[in-house]
Amino acid sequence: MALPLNLFLVWTFFCLFFESSVGVTIREIDGEKAIELPIHRAKHPAQSLLEFVGSKGLLKNGTAHQNSHLQDIFKKLKMAPAPVKNETLAIFKRFDSDFYALIRIGKPANLTYKFVIDTSWADTWVVSNNCKEWTCDNKDKYNAKRSNTSHPDGRNFYLDLGQGTFGGNLTGILTIDTFKFAHMNATNVTFAEVSNIPWFMYFTRYDGILGMSRGTENLQGAPLIWRELVRQNKIKRNMFSLYLNRDPTSDRAGSILIGAADPHHYNGSASAKVPLTGDKYWQFDIKDLGFTYVKNKKKKRKPVLEFCKDSCLAKLASGGNIIIGPTAAINQIHQLIGAQPFFFGFYRVPCENIAKLPELYFSFGNKDIVLYGEQYIQQIFYNGYVLCLSTFAPQDGKEWIFGIPLLSKYYTIYDFDQNTISITDYKTHEA
Ligand SMILES: *[C@@H]1O[C@H](CO)[C@@H](O)[C@H](O)[C@H]1NC(C)=O
Ligand SMILES: *[C@@H]1O[C@H](CO)[C@@H](O)[C@H](O)[C@H]1NC(C)=O
Ligand SMILES: *[C@@H]1O[C@H](CO)[C@@H](O)[C@H](O)[C@H]1NC(C)=O
Ligand SMILES: *[C@@H]1O[C@H](CO)[C@@H](O)[C@H](O)[C@H]1NC(C)=O
Ligand SMILES: *[C@@H]1O[C@H](CO)[C@@H](O)[C@H](O)[C@H]1NC(C)=O
Ligand SMILES: *[C@@H]1O[C@H](CO)[C@@H](O)[C@H](O)[C@H]1NC(C)=O
Ligand SMILES: *[C@@H]1O[C@H](CO)[C@@H](O)[C@H](O)[C@H]1NC(C)=O
Ligand SMILES: *[C@@H]1O[C@H](CO)[C@@H](O)[C@H](O)[C@H]1NC(C)=O
Repeated sequence: MALPLNLFLVWTFFCLFFESSVGVTIREIDGEKAIELPIHRAKHPAQSLLEFVGSKGLLKNGTAHQNSHLQDIFKKLKMAPAPVKNETLAIFKRFDSDFYALIRIGKPANLTYKFVIDTSWADTWVVSNNCKEWTCDNKDKYNAKRSNTSHPDGRNFYLDLGQGTFGGNLTGILTIDTFKFAHMNATNVTFAEVSNIPWFMYFTRYDGILGMSRGTENLQGAPLIWRELVRQNKIKRNMFSLYLNRDPTSDRAGSILIGAADPHHYNGSASAKVPLTGDKYWQFDIKDLGFTYVKNKKKKRKPVLEFCKDSCLAKLASGGNIIIGPTAAINQIHQLIGAQPFFFGFYRVPCENIAKLPELYFSFGNKDIVLYGEQYIQQIFYNGYVLCLSTFAPQDGKEWIFGIPLLSKYYTIYDFDQNTISITDYKTHEA
């Protein structure tokens, strides 16, 4: 029996609504909705559909009621989609160093902004159309006047990014509006609309930063965007997780899963979880950080450089392709890997050496974290040339900050309720 076309349409909707609880992903990429459906084998759809529609008394003479619009049918059946309690947001990359997600602000929500998801920032900001400087020329600028859900907070915003080549400040005002993460939203988010950004941000792809650090408030005392998602009961579990890759053939860099960890991506038996220290950052203790060329057969390392014999404070920062450590240690590392000063404080290594560089290791709980040259050296391709830059950067202070080099090798899970962080192997060779 051929099924009338309108029944096929009903069936399609039926699938979409019911499958939304079993792994369907809806993504919005540059304004286009894409829906990824898993494939299952079940009863012939016509049969299930006829049984279902028939059981609701909607079958008249073997076909669905001619005048029933789909919406009416579903209204009658009270088949509203289940509330979303987690959301996968695609992360894109550019030059293997800017990793960003597309997020909409306000209403109408037809503009997307590129946000770096940064686990080390409390503040969330986006470039404002008030920015008249050349540094903002290539940004998608937020215009509060064009958003029906926007209202002013009344406070000013100022953030000092320090001195030096990549220092400067962010200046602007605080505004309140709705943030949309694909089909999940947080209303009443207080964020900064900045009208002044440092020069180097002209060379970055992003329009703003989404602060995903662990505290409760940003510098101005406004609740963090995460707290709003929780308060508004938009997420299932008070956690998020990051899957990042450096696959050079794609600008899809992975995803952030808000409200869950995705067992498809990580290998639970190669996982370690540690308690966090302090209450502001994704910050924890590590031990025995060092470099080694070879492990002998008994798995004993012969370190060529060693730090943190007792313990060191470490943080995860998803905002940059960088590993930051104490200045003296970074100098020793650059000497060890043969890195030479290049420009703007960057160091380069001969590309042909990458495979021969020592491995970096440290103890995270009961797990050995290991990064190779291919992770801690960034390759930049330009006009047929390749430039190999060290991702190590110095800072005053004693802590170590691990960014994309670690996060693209390991899956990470950030749990606000347990106050823990997990670092686990990717399941297949996804990194
Ligand atoms: C059902 O079909 C019969 C015969 O084809 C017709 O007389 C009747 O009006 C139909 N009923 C409805 C509700 O369409
Ligand atoms: C925004 O508000 C204006 C004025 O109230 C209204 O005309 C317009 O339809 C609204 N736009 C949207 C997308 O809600
Ligand atoms: C967004 O929607 C508004 C109001 O509907 C419209 O004026 C504007 O052109 C749209 N912008 C884009 C980029 O589609
Ligand atoms: C912030 O940076 C701008 C230039 O980008 C500079 O003119 C201004 O003096 C800075 N403000 C402060 C308080 O440092
Ligand atoms: C936010 O999401 C809720 C559903 O959770 C929806 O009812 C509401 O209209 C959305 N608000 C905006 C401004 O998109
Ligand atoms: C958002 O703020 C408005 C105005 O202050 C308030 O009426 C509304 O209840 C708030 N919504 C949520 C979800 O907190
Ligand atoms: C996401 O939420 C849906 C429905 O709320 C649930 O079925 C699914 O298992 C969740 N995904 C993960 C990875 O927890
Ligand atoms: C998961 O990790 C364990 C322990 O390291 C390893 O033996 C196993 O092969 C891994 N499984 C997958 C699917 O990667």
